[in-house]
Amino acid sequence: MAVTGLLLPKKHKEMKMETVYKIVDAQNPDAVCIQQAAKLIQKGETVAFPTETVYGLGANALDAQACEKIFAAKGRPGDNPLIVHVTGIEQAKKIAHVDELAEALMQAFWPGPLSLVLPKKECVPMAVTAHLNTVAIRCPNHAVALALIRESGLPIAAPSANLSGKPSPTWGSHVFADLRGKTAMILDAGPVEIGLESTVLLVKPGNCVLLRPGGIEKDQLETICGPVFLPQAKDKEKPAAPGMKYKHYAPEGEVKLGCNQEEIEHWLQEGRKKGAKKIILLLTEEMKVAFPSLPEEVIVFGTEKDLRTVAHNLFAALRQCDMEQADYIIAQSFAAHGIGQAIMNRLQKAAGKK
Ligand code: TXA
Ligand code: MG
Repeated sequence: MAVTGLLLPKKHKEMKMETVYKIVDAQNPDAVCIQQAAKLIQKGETVAFPTETVYGLGANALDAQACEKIFAAKGRPGDNPLIVHVTGIEQAKKIAHVDELAEALMQAFWPGPLSLVLPKKECVPMAVTAHLNTVAIRCPNHAVALALIRESGLPIAAPSANLSGKPSPTWGSHVFADLRGKTAMILDAGPVEIGLESTVLLVKPGNCVLLRPGGIEKDQLETICGPVFLPQAKDKEKPAAPGMKYKHYAPEGEVKLGCNQEEIEHWLQEGRKKGAKKIILLLTEEMKVAFPSLPEEVIVFGTEKDLRTVAHNLFAALRQCDMEQADYIIAQSFAAHGIGQAIMNRLQKAAGKK
């Protein structure tokens, strides 16, 4: 079914509102700040807040009109459902049917970067789930996010707090750049911990499907739910995670991926040949050594010794490429296993592959 009408009228989209911007401590947020943010959520406004994965743009998940403001602020297509954030299993059970397997996954990985797609309950509006009868739920591992959900007394729907199509925000300053004037409040607690969005898992006993790789790795999931499947090619037409069909995480410049020195060298020659004005390379510390005296700029985005450092820095590095108006970006690529699977998923999207 084609879903229309989930976006607010144009007038609202163009509306500039005053955005309250507050710096909060990531471990021990100021109670007055959280109360102010929670009141805005209760009143049906949006609030951007940090989680351990990326920043989210939140609204009352039980209020369709409030959630429509999220779509309008981000310019998000109405057929891309939202993830609902809860404080734990008890609150999850109020909005979704939680079977034994789902509960075991929650016990194992919550709070943490795992979103579970489960049959929704009546109270969740269709605007949140883009007319699906399932809802994605997660419990974030971040004191600010948890305090906000607890204080508001509501489940909070929150996609990443970026403009649609931009890299997800991993610093409060990224949110400020994208959403100032479009959200009632921004809570800035500095850089997030993980830097890539949560893993999204469709929970079906014996047949769980990894809809989006993220902070919890496939092998970790399999210790609890047995073999985890990848979406089938036939699902591409009607993807199980509708968000995955969009070109995401794209900086303005063209992105090329190279897995070793030779490939990176090849793309560098190509970029120079076609007269790119500003070339930036995203390399690990180790790979940078192979390119000692380049005239082009190199951003070191982590170390091969621990690819979690690359996950942590990737989106900020892509945003930096935009700030410096790079028109040609060469990013080092990695084997797609462990956290490398999530990194490659995002890098391939940045490079425009669906
Ligand atoms: O780490 C995260 O998950 C962050 C933080 C803020 O929690 N949120 C986030 O939300 O990345 P978003 O909207 O950028 O990505 C949500 C993904 C999309 O790919 C969407 O299609 C999928 O989850 N999703 C949401 N509800 C779904 C559902 N009912 N069925 C299948 N996929 C769903
Ligand atoms: Mg997103």
